[in-house]
Amino acid sequence: MKVHFIGAGPGAPDLITLRGHDILARCPVCLYAGSLVPTELLKHCPSKARIIDTAPMTLDEIEAEFVRARDADEDVARLHSGDLSVWSAMGEQLRRLDDLGIAYDVTPGVPSFAAAAAALRRELTLPEVAQSLVLTRTSGRASAMPEKEKLAAFAATGATLAIHLSIHVLEKIVAELLPFYGPDCPIALVFRASWPDEKIVQATLSTIVAATRDNPMERTALILVGPALGANDFRESALYDPDYRRRYRGGFVRPDGTIAEDE
Ligand SMILES: C[S@@+](CC[C@H](N)C(=O)[O-])C[C@H]1O[C@@H](n2cnc3c(N)ncnc32)[C@H](O)[C@@H]1O
Repeated sequence: MKVHFIGAGPGAPDLITLRGHDILARCPVCLYAGSLVPTELLKHCPSKARIIDTAPMTLDEIEAEFVRARDADEDVARLHSGDLSVWSAMGEQLRRLDDLGIAYDVTPGVPSFAAAAAALRRELTLPEVAQSLVLTRTSGRASAMPEKEKLAAFAATGATLAIHLSIHVLEKIVAELLPFYGPDCPIALVFRASWPDEKIVQATLSTIVAATRDNPMERTALILVGPALGANDFRESALYDPDYRRRYRGGFVRPDGTIAEDE
């Protein structure tokens, strides 16, 4: 018996991985985080599967389901939205499973920041514009931010920011970012990326608040900020430059002129 954690992807039911789908299709038990996981995915479960929405449950109740499945020797598919490596509450479940001696594995999913970038048809890292992406959030009712993880500290780098769980404090975020990125910096709000009701608002830090005043977004939205969202005059990457020699095109030229084959 095993618990299989599966990233369900950002919303569109065909954005689950093939591996995730195959595990889902063979597990007699499925626990899914009903607040964000599309119920259409549950059609892939075996017809007699025990399917449970964990949105209204406590961690103790979820643990009891793991124990019940262990006692019945039934594999469990555990579905969470997006990818499991960020804001999935997987960590605390793994700790309980370790204590219980129940085996588990993890299948990654498409994270919401990737779905939002795809919706915008944008690359979030561009040569000499932005080479880092910060996945972050602001303090919520249930979770305070660690002291050093201030938005201002990340903003000081000028990197692309993907701010989760924070659309309700958009105005405050804009005020904090303005001194670092300037009024003309592009910002995009992506609501429910890849769902049928996906919505996008693109503006600058100086115009976004007015642009959303009459129609504010709620809950499932990402805030993306940074110059990479608007840049078009960036340098082309060396990857496809005919003068750039590397492994697949004649090897890498070392400073002493010799050629290394492994770069
Ligand atoms: C609890 S976190 C889950 C993150 C998820 N594990 C991931 O990989 O993206 C929920 C937050 O992720 C973002 N989010 C999740 N799905 C989204 C989507 N389809 N479109 C836009 N933002 C999304 C929102 O900021 C939302 O408040």
